[in-house]
Amino acid sequence: MGMDIAIVLHVFFVVVWVGGMFFAHQCLRPVAAAQLEPPLRLRLWVGVFGRFFPWVWAAIVLVPASGLFMMLGPLGGFAHLPLYIHAMFGLGLVMVGVFLRVFFSPYPALRKAVAAGDWPAGAAQLARIRRLVGINTLLGTLTLAIGAGGRYFG
Ligand code: HEM
Repeated sequence: MGMDIAIVLHVFFVVVWVGGMFFAHQCLRPVAAAQLEPPLRLRLWVGVFGRFFPWVWAAIVLVPASGLFMMLGPLGGFAHLPLYIHAMFGLGLVMVGVFLRVFFSPYPALRKAVAAGDWPAGAAQLARIRRLVGINTLLGTLTLAIGAGGRYFG
């Protein structure tokens, strides 16, 4: 495997992850909030996350793995690389941390509340997820601006 396969994998999973968050947060969320009663809305989100999060797991493994492969292999190692690549790496790790927080804290609590039919508790967990995904959508936008535009800045 060389730079060619690595960059395609890298950008594909970046698009799936950041584009998926953008769609969920900016398009699906406001419509679901306006049109669906809590029981339907919360069950919708449990189903949507159940389909989206396996793709995010693939992304949090393959985006850093392909990026590190490029840094350590074809691009010649950490020491020689421009600052923007290190910034992308750092921000990418923060994004992974934010996702892991969603996955291991409000997400299981949301599923538990929905399984118990406790809609107020479910709505509170969904609000936590909304805030964290909002943060990660912004971080993702910033990171891809740095990743794609970094070499042209300055
Ligand atoms: C987590 C660790 C990450 C590492 C180690 C990493 C590393 C890299 C490397 C080495 C390149 C190739 C740079 C070049 O050819 O000049 C690259 C490209 C890129 N990365 Fe990352 N990256 C990471 C995360 C991310 C994240 C989270 C995003 C977006 C949210 C992102 C978006 C991009 C984009 C858009 C490109 C540019 C593709 C192109 O224009 O050729 N990266 N990354």
